[in-house]
Amino acid sequence: MRRKLVVANWKMHGSLASNQALFEAFKQKLAPIKNVDFAVCVPYPYLAQAQSLLAGTNIAWGAQNVARYPVGAYTGEVSATMLKDFGASYVILGHSERSTAYCESAENIAAKFMMVKEAGLTPVLCVGETLQERESGVMERVIAEQIDELLLTKGGGVFANAVVSYEPIWAIGTGLSASPEQAQSMHEFIRNRIAGYDAEAAQSVCILYGGSVNPVNAAQLLVMQDIDGGLIGRCSLDANDFEKIGQAAAFATQTGGAK
Ligand code: 13P
Repeated sequence: MRRKLVVANWKMHGSLASNQALFEAFKQKLAPIKNVDFAVCVPYPYLAQAQSLLAGTNIAWGAQNVARYPVGAYTGEVSATMLKDFGASYVILGHSERSTAYCESAENIAAKFMMVKEAGLTPVLCVGETLQERESGVMERVIAEQIDELLLTKGGGVFANAVVSYEPIWAIGTGLSASPEQAQSMHEFIRNRIAGYDAEAAQSVCILYGGSVNPVNAAQLLVMQDIDGGLIGRCSLDANDFEKIGQAAAFATQTGGAK
């Protein structure tokens, strides 16, 4: 059984003072939760703070974007090796709040994915469909296009031990989560699509669900067979909520997922 992973996406929230309190609360509340991996993806300026406060705990840290180039005259960009310098383990890529607002192409996201892997970090590749795409029944085609960019150009092996996060755009920040069955069905689709290229990679890829995960719906989502964890927005800014989601992941691990 794959290990569950619960990742906080703090988005553009925080300050040195408020982060310090939240990191301390996370450390205290997550330490007793066994057999679950945790990570917090912070805005770039707070990576050093994450490193100094989280080193040696059961919580890894990471970033929410990265440059597609290794080094050079790219004003305002941050490279994967810079993130590594600050002990980052994870990098969120292609989040809809970026790809919509900053017009990131699938090709650009795929290049970033490769940079992250080359630096020895773990990419968290976000994929998701709009409400209109779901309602018109083309959601699987949309998700396929988002992962095919990598599958077709790099093969399935690049997904070995990588993270994919299924984040239906209509569920992000809306309080309207996908049902466990809707999420499971899409996660299975993603895993099968990768398996078509590399069966072993498909077994090791960690597929998170993101989109209004909260302490009430977490248990039902995380127990599903192909849901390997969560990417948590709003509820990752509250240590009590995040702890409860972590406990739901631990419980799903103990009970062995859905039968
Ligand atoms: P919410 O949990 O606030 O819906 O955000 C989800 C998300 O965007 C995770 O990356």
